[in-house]
Amino acid sequence: MDIKEKIKQIEEQIENTVKEIKSSRTAQEIKMKFLGKSGEISSLMKNMRDVPPEERPNMGKLLNALRQWTEERFDKLESGLKTIELAKRYADEKIDVTMPGQVAPDGAYHPTTLVTRELIDIFLGMGFEIFEGPEIENDYYNFTALNTPKDHPARDMQDTFYLAENLLLRTQTSSGQIRVMENKKPPIKILSPGKVYRSDDDATHSPMFSQLEMLVVDKGLTLCDLQGMLDEFVKKIFGREVKTRLRPSYFPFTEPSVEVDVSCFECGGKGCRLCKGTGWIELGGAGMVNRRVLAGCGIDPDEYTGFAFGLGIERIAMFKYGINNIKLLYEGDTRFLKQFKG
Ligand code: PHE
Repeated sequence: MDIKEKIKQIEEQIENTVKEIKSSRTAQEIKMKFLGKSGEISSLMKNMRDVPPEERPNMGKLLNALRQWTEERFDKLESGLKTIELAKRYADEKIDVTMPGQVAPDGAYHPTTLVTRELIDIFLGMGFEIFEGPEIENDYYNFTALNTPKDHPARDMQDTFYLAENLLLRTQTSSGQIRVMENKKPPIKILSPGKVYRSDDDATHSPMFSQLEMLVVDKGLTLCDLQGMLDEFVKKIFGREVKTRLRPSYFPFTEPSVEVDVSCFECGGKGCRLCKGTGWIELGGAGMVNRRVLAGCGIDPDEYTGFAFGLGIERIAMFKYGINNIKLLYEGDTRFLKQFKG
């Protein structure tokens, strides 16, 4: 075939191909197909060897022109497409800097956490140290060492989740008292917050709840020291005008044992719905550490005395924030929780 004819054919082929190209990337790829080593133009160049010498200069000129034309044709196409692509990218990625930002929802501390921190802060200010015991406890620490051996009727006070014969979910943070006293010589001043478990479930009871345990062991401590510390504590948490009252009670690990009440911080003691008309709100259990418990931990009860106090944290949160169902504290409903944002 005539070389001019062939060139024309290639040019037409290129024009047809170019029409179909939609992206600068494809333009570049196809260009290489025509101009690359195995492309048609290159193979024409290779055929020069078979052309009679007198025709070579002319043919070389024509092929070089074709080569150059092809290159320019594709470069033009590529740069045109690049301009369009860039404009499209700018349009797609356009941001309106005057638009209000997307506010990431921020969390709030859980009311139980808020109250726990407040309680801990008060006691840390009085020189207490924190001790955290295990939630899975031996029967010994949860009961026996707390003067509540097997078959002791006081075991019925707390419906226990047993995991095995001697393994249970602790029913009280009092188990921590033993762990501390076994390992530390008096003076002892510890605070033990944590989750406890009881098979109990209604509007004011949950199978899992939190307690805060306080234990002080030293020489010459009496019930008056306990009451003095409780007075100071309730004033800090509920307000200066709040008073405490100790009522006789029973716990196997304290002797004497008391129930600690505070004068109602809602009505000031006159009687209202919060205190059910009594003027008093029950705060927790307390007492002087039973001699048998001290002795069992290797502490001489003739030399040392101690007092302990335990309260339910959710109960305090419910009173403090006017929450009427303990379940609200465990459901994780953000409509409830966001009300506690500081
Ligand atoms: N552990 C007791 C309870 O859960 C409370 C308590 C703690 C009583 C410390 C006396 C001393 O009911």
